[in-house]
Amino acid sequence: MPLPGAAGDRSYDVVVGHGALSQLDDMLMGLQPVPRRVALVTQSSIGVEVSTSLALHRFDIGVGEQFKTMVTIQELCEGFAEAGLTRGDVVVAVGGGMVTDVAGFAAASYHRGISVIHVPTTLLGMIDAAIGGKTGVNLPQGKNLVGAFWQPSGVLCDLDTLATLPEREIRCGNGEMAKYHFLTGDDLAALDLEARVARCVEIKAEVVASDERESGRRAILNYGHTLAHALEIASGHDIAHGEAVSIGLIFAARLAERLGRIDAARVAEHVDVVGGLYGLAIDIPRVGSADELLALMFRDKKAIDGLTFVLDGPDGVEVVVDVDPAIVLDVLNEALHS
Ligand SMILES: NC(=O)c1ccc[n+]([C@@H]2O[C@H](COP(=O)([O-])OP(=O)(O)OC[C@H]3O[C@@H](n4cnc5c(N)ncnc54)[C@H](O)[C@@H]3O)[C@@H](O)[C@H]2O)c1
Repeated sequence: MPLPGAAGDRSYDVVVGHGALSQLDDMLMGLQPVPRRVALVTQSSIGVEVSTSLALHRFDIGVGEQFKTMVTIQELCEGFAEAGLTRGDVVVAVGGGMVTDVAGFAAASYHRGISVIHVPTTLLGMIDAAIGGKTGVNLPQGKNLVGAFWQPSGVLCDLDTLATLPEREIRCGNGEMAKYHFLTGDDLAALDLEARVARCVEIKAEVVASDERESGRRAILNYGHTLAHALEIASGHDIAHGEAVSIGLIFAARLAERLGRIDAARVAEHVDVVGGLYGLAIDIPRVGSADELLALMFRDKKAIDGLTFVLDGPDGVEVVVDVDPAIVLDVLNEALHS
């Protein structure tokens, strides 16, 4: 499926399906210039075998956000140099969003930018992290604070790789997938997994193509994320991102209803998709008081001024600035005490 990853001339193919990884060599041979060496960036815990006719150098990075650092970028780039990678060679990232973010940033930086092909092996990676060209690492001061926009040259979403994915990681991917149900009018629930992943990729690619550097519309991809980020922080990251997004989606729907943007039927649709179809959590866990969660939402990095949410409404999902804190507090309190 050819998809625009960004503006026109930098579009790339995204292949979704069982066995998609078998197309790696074809994708590599289609690069200009044809690379001679492949730097495979992955994690030892990911048992996905990669075979290519090109010279392969494997780099295992650590598992977990604590390894999503500049130190890992330095180690990778030093390894690329030792392996003799040139500007005409290619990085292949095989893993979840952590791997594709790190490998993508190393590819963006090495020799001021070499090609990267993403092979996402988590549901979240397939429908979100590997698409759209955001790469980066964390600093002690915060997540994803250093990075680059660097579009991949291709993406292979091999659904077979999901067979070994732990249940919790599937749940996290489903949290983000539920979000896509509300970004367009599509009936994603009617699609099988392969078609649904493909449609999510298409939706994300379309949004990114309209606003690659997130100066506006791309922010709608953060639907459900304002409360989600607050819950992640308040729980000391016991609640994973995708788990928090499902709860955030329901809260955003209730807030939108209170603001007169959507009706009760649309809120019920959110509950049906998130809680019913995907069986995800919809209730706000008691990880903090309403006041504490509100304070955390004020610190959300998407908020330029005041309280910013991405909310559903008559014109679809859009960014809404300066939401009245008293109303947010009221909806939070109601949800926490229901
Ligand atoms: N660039 C973007 O646009 C974007 C978007 C969303 C998230 N992200 C980033 O993505 C990261 C989260 O990604 P994630 O949820 O994929 O987590 P992850 O990459 O940390 O992977 C989660 C766990 O699953 C394991 N794993 C991966 N594939 C597996 C497989 N097939 N079988 C068994 N185990 C497997 C990993 O080793 C890891 O332990 C975060 O760092 C986040 O910031 C980036």
